[in-house]
Amino acid sequence: LHIAVLMGGWSAERAVSLLSGAGVAEALESLGHRVTRIDMGHDVAARLAEAAPDVVFNALHGTPGEDGAVQGMLDLMGLRYTHSGMVSSVIAIDKVLTKQALVPHGIPMPGGRIVKSASLYEGDPLPRPYVLKPVNEGSSVGVAIVTEDGDYGNPIAPGAVGPWQEFDELLAEPFIRGRELTTAVLGDWAMGVTELKPKSGFYDYDSKYTDGLTEHVYPADIPDEIAEACKALALESHRLLGCKGCSRSDFRWDDERGVDGLFLLEVNTQPGMTALSLVPEQARHNGMSYPELVQKIVDEALL
Ligand code: DAL
Ligand code: MG
Repeated sequence: LHIAVLMGGWSAERAVSLLSGAGVAEALESLGHRVTRIDMGHDVAARLAEAAPDVVFNALHGTPGEDGAVQGMLDLMGLRYTHSGMVSSVIAIDKVLTKQALVPHGIPMPGGRIVKSASLYEGDPLPRPYVLKPVNEGSSVGVAIVTEDGDYGNPIAPGAVGPWQEFDELLAEPFIRGRELTTAVLGDWAMGVTELKPKSGFYDYDSKYTDGLTEHVYPADIPDEIAEACKALALESHRLLGCKGCSRSDFRWDDERGVDGLFLLEVNTQPGMTALSLVPEQARHNGMSYPELVQKIVDEALL
């Protein structure tokens, strides 16, 4: 096949996408496909039209790339592409729309409210501890955990600086103590559950992409009931949002509250494919190599 790998772009996760895209392109080449690598710019439609690939492998992360705009363009161009379509992407990239879509169907998610970042200087929007996050970023870009003693930045102090300041509006959610879990979905298969144990205590951008800063435990050392619940919730959320191909659902689990302490944080429709990324790692633990996974994602796009 002739496959165009879309990567890079201008989102806050450009660097991550370049790593995902390079890994995917090398795997596709090793499988014998003809690959055109495209670092997305504003001329992306013209470059895709010129390449005229059989299928596009979307290795973009963040906004744009994961937010439906690229998917809509590809639909209009009549090109087939990997991962989710436009509508699913629009909903899943937005953490508020995701709650609105999933909570009425019984998917447990933390409550939350939108706050103006400037208002944070006037007081806490929620009882501490709570999390501040941009509505539509990935890789923990712009996320702050506000604790009692001000760990990870306290935006309330006069003159405080922090990642939240780059965003006009933020989602404030209660911080769920306990454990960080994730489940990959490929087609109708929920692969398993990984626990992330960041040395810093916060699975932030550096902890995600610097080798050695986070211990990945697979399978997670959690009760079967919790692992089964993660897999069921990941599959159900993937289906409810109409996701295609591959997604990854992230959870927090308050291990003092049993299954009632399990909360879905979000569904990632363009999960990372870097050397430290979790979907390839779960696939590998299940006997599926990185090139096999990449091929399977392509196959899903051609179904
Ligand atoms: N946003 C990053 C790429 C992930 O979800 O893996
Ligand atoms: Mg994410």
